[in-house]
Amino acid sequence: MDKKLHTPAIAVSTQHVGVFDSGVGGLSVLKALLNYLPFERFEYVADERYLPYGDKPQHEITDRVLTLSNWLRNQECKAMVMACNTATAAGANQARAIHANWPIVGIEPAVKPASMLTKTGVVGILATTNTVASERFKALVERFDPMAKVIAHPCPGLVELIEQSLIPESAIENLLKPVVAELLHKQADVIVLGCTHYPFVSHLISKLAGPGVAVIETGLPVAKQLKTRLEGENLLNPGTENLPLLERVSFFTTGQPEAFKTKLVNLLGVDWRDAKVQQLKV
Ligand code: DGL
Repeated sequence: MDKKLHTPAIAVSTQHVGVFDSGVGGLSVLKALLNYLPFERFEYVADERYLPYGDKPQHEITDRVLTLSNWLRNQECKAMVMACNTATAAGANQARAIHANWPIVGIEPAVKPASMLTKTGVVGILATTNTVASERFKALVERFDPMAKVIAHPCPGLVELIEQSLIPESAIENLLKPVVAELLHKQADVIVLGCTHYPFVSHLISKLAGPGVAVIETGLPVAKQLKTRLEGENLLNPGTENLPLLERVSFFTTGQPEAFKTKLVNLLGVDWRDAKVQQLKV
């Protein structure tokens, strides 16, 4: 592992933004970033060798967060997006302590917007086991406790199903059916997708929950937050010309590049069929 940390003398607006997740989940965030910030370029790392983060000991995830943050910083990324709720809960504070003066945007389950949206006063949160158990999540829930009752439900096994090259919809429906039924039974009228993998099955969650329940995700708010941070640091790319999509993202995986590319095309569409995915050994 390359522990050497090279700090660029001056970050400039034309540099990439680093993005990472344990696998394909962060692609749901990348999609929002590409749409909302049309002149930015990205380096996306899928840490598939260490997937899933959601059930691993917390210190292992913190270690991966620091390894990937160092690597992205050494790549001279001007900022980093942690496109993973589990990684943010396990390592955002530590990464920010090491990389002071480097914009780091994390992702947290959208408890605040959900609390403002609910009419029944009950909000359901779907997230990984580690996110639900984290101190960061507990503190977040406590902050909005007077506004809404929050029912957090871990979904072990769901990330692994979404990571299959073709999403097995009926297995996913079977896994989610009792979870969604319990949230409905407790009167939840808003369901928060607290894991970046879950937006890829939001249609199944909406189908199970029915039309009276709002299902919310966090890709767009993260893109807005990144824009604010880049503007604040004078790092927003002022570009005027739209770059071809394939030139806007460099993909890396600690797993198998070809397998990742198949999932990328299945999830984000055929525009990505000529994407180059490189193997990363960190
Ligand atoms: N996508 C990640 C998140 O938002 C977690 C996936 C995993 O368990 O690896 O929490």
